[in-house]
Amino acid sequence: MSLRINDTAPNFTAKTTHGEIDFHSWIGDSWAILFSHPKDFTPVCTTELGYMAKIEPEFTRRGAKLIGLSIDPVESHGKWVADIEETQGATVTYPMIGDTDLAVAKLYNMLPAEEPGSSDGRTAATNATVRSVFIIGPDKKIKLMLTYPMTTGRNFDEILRVLDSMQLTARHKVATPVNWKHGDDVIIAGSVSDEDAKKLYPEGWAAPKPYLRIVKQPR
Ligand code: BEZ
Repeated sequence: MSLRINDTAPNFTAKTTHGEIDFHSWIGDSWAILFSHPKDFTPVCTTELGYMAKIEPEFTRRGAKLIGLSIDPVESHGKWVADIEETQGATVTYPMIGDTDLAVAKLYNMLPAEEPGSSDGRTAATNATVRSVFIIGPDKKIKLMLTYPMTTGRNFDEILRVLDSMQLTARHKVATPVNWKHGDDVIIAGSVSDEDAKKLYPEGWAAPKPYLRIVKQPR
């Protein structure tokens, strides 16, 4: 079954570099970023996992926890951490799931399409997870899904930007425009009447169209 935004993130138990976890219990009251990579000891993945280690404090500041995943065993993840530290100058302290039986990969549709011609439709390459990212809220609902190809490293700053937007729009009746970043002007939600908007934003707003009402980012 394919997952959709607002679905409850499927729960699972899994072996990680921090021991066995129950996913929902591990999330607790936090936000969670679940992200998969194709293979340990590969170049693009090494840069990605290193960058996530570097910016982990930014996720912590936003009340979000990180958890990586590939089909490699946790022992392999543990050994790879030294290479990431040596080449990327950052220590991975977030847990990594060793999904050797592909259970979580299948649950979250992290595997690429099967290749026609192989006996059971799967090969070593198609058994490796693609570069998926899930943002899961404290309510355990899926808030964002991203899927990138094997050869393209992700922009994890985008995940921070989306978290900022989601956390702001959960507190205020606003939406964030294209390429918005924290501190930029926002859009008053369509569900807010002009009358209510006057109470919320007594200093007014710019409205190039009646449906496009731009206002300073509320605190
Ligand atoms: C990489 O991380 O460099 C990589 C991994 C799997 C396939 C292609 C590239």
